[in-house]
Amino acid sequence: MSHIVDTNADFPRIPRINEPAPDFEANSTQGPIKLSDYKGKKWVVLFAHPADFTPVCTTEFIGFAKYAEAFDKLNVQLIGISEDSNFSHLAWLANIKQNFGVQIPFPVIDDRAGHVAARFGLIHPSESQTATVRAVFIIDDQGLIRAFIYYPLTTGRSVEEILRVVEALQVADKYKVATPEGWKKGDKVIVPAPATQQAAESRASEGYETTDWYFSKKDLPL
Ligand code: BEZ
Repeated sequence: MSHIVDTNADFPRIPRINEPAPDFEANSTQGPIKLSDYKGKKWVVLFAHPADFTPVCTTEFIGFAKYAEAFDKLNVQLIGISEDSNFSHLAWLANIKQNFGVQIPFPVIDDRAGHVAARFGLIHPSESQTATVRAVFIIDDQGLIRAFIYYPLTTGRSVEEILRVVEALQVADKYKVATPEGWKKGDKVIVPAPATQQAAESRASEGYETTDWYFSKKDLPL
């Protein structure tokens, strides 16, 4: 008999990196959404907020609207979600337009039934029994979860950082490289460390900016 106690048994399993994103169909401020419809077409940034008509969430929505064009250039569909009704979402988006002059260009899902929250582990009961935490799932165009964050209710996210992570993931895919701390477009990238003794010995002569056999950087083509 196993003596291992699963302390998480009562909680839904959170999807992990490189696993397929759980599919869902839901109503949104721009009509019905089926996540798997984006597979083979677009990346998706699915982000949960705790509640409509709250100040931190309002600043985040303004941030996502500010960077919406930049996400679009990276072929990313932004999708918001909370446990509020579609009518509440629509009223809040109109209120943001009225108070801040900002048009929210992305759909926001009505998840009152909690189906999406259950699949993505958006309710953290010790934080709130009813409101979704500030979760972000970055899903690639193959429908795989590539990165995610969970923030508590009181801490607004950096939309610029979310955009930076999408860009870093796309660069890593395209050029088979990694990106260092704080990497931004135009910065040098990390060349994968050599895997054999022979490759390690020849690394210094391969034209990279090499500090040691395991640490090489290079510029990407413009
Ligand atoms: C806010 O967005 O301001 C907020 C929402 C839920 C709890 C705390 C703050």
